[in-house]
Amino acid sequence: MMLQNKTIAFIGGGNMAVAMIQGLLAAGCAPTRIRVAEPDAGQRQRLTERFPIVVLAENALALAGADAVVIAVKPGKVDGVLRLLAPVLGPEMLILSIAAGISLAQLQQALPAGQPLVRVMPNTPALIGAGISALLPIPTLSQEKRHLAQEIMAVAGDVVEIEEESWMDAITALSGSGPAYLFLIAEALSDGGVACGLPRGLADRLAVKTLIGSARLIDETGQHPAVLKNQVTSPGGTTIAGLEQLESAGVRAALMAAVRAAWSRSRALSG
Ligand SMILES: NC(=O)c1ccc[n+]([C@@H]2O[C@H](COP(=O)([O-])OP(=O)(O)OC[C@H]3O[C@@H](n4cnc5c(N)ncnc54)[C@H](OP(=O)(O)O)[C@@H]3O)[C@@H](O)[C@H]2O)c1
Repeated sequence: MMLQNKTIAFIGGGNMAVAMIQGLLAAGCAPTRIRVAEPDAGQRQRLTERFPIVVLAENALALAGADAVVIAVKPGKVDGVLRLLAPVLGPEMLILSIAAGISLAQLQQALPAGQPLVRVMPNTPALIGAGISALLPIPTLSQEKRHLAQEIMAVAGDVVEIEEESWMDAITALSGSGPAYLFLIAEALSDGGVACGLPRGLADRLAVKTLIGSARLIDETGQHPAVLKNQVTSPGGTTIAGLEQLESAGVRAALMAAVRAAWSRSRALSG
């Protein structure tokens, strides 16, 4: 593990930065090697109370000695933030941008030529270390810096490296927006239980644990979802009766269309 002796700076101390800081500390990074620059005094106060890390008001101050710099501000602010940082960046500092919809080319335009750079698309389960992040390095990035980027993002969950930037909109639509689709499904399953007479609290718990357990079963057995579905579907039984309703309501097509709609919206937003 190379993380322990690296200094990591965060520009922006919001939700994603907090999730990653928590993960870095849990992974054994020294708190003195984690810096965060955050303009809002109230948020700085909350960060200081929560973590024994270095919390600063000035972005440039967070850079001193940094091996990696995580750009964790809202997408609309990324360009301005990078242009102000560009003159004070060390040429070896690895920049990780987690801003949705900001391309490598846009990031490169605001940065010094040749700056080591990775574009990252995380998702909200990162808040509990259970996210999945897609990493898109610039093609010239060294193996060592690729590993560093992977190790940093691994504190927020699973990591996949991609080469194809055009996939980012589809990734945004699937894993970025996906948690919301599953929240809706959790809510609807619980509603179904309540419709059949279960108390709400019990129905909520049954729904969420069923989602978690089913997802883990796919992940940990490596079985195709169709195989697992067939295993719980006995002839003339209850499950096939439920599945028939889902099929006649077009749930598969609806989920596919949801990903496609989010993909086309992401493409429109990222221009
Ligand atoms: N949350 C997600 O699930 C998710 C998923 C994928 C990608 N992302 C990306 O992650 C990035 C951060 O998202 P977030 O949810 O963590 O947002 P957030 O909670 O709003 O955090 C952004 C933080 O940056 C601070 N900030 C604003 N301008 C700044 C500046 N000029 N210099 C330094 N800090 C500044 C903000 O402070 P103020 O409040 O004072 O403005 C805020 O504390 C976004 O670009 C988003 O696209 C998020």
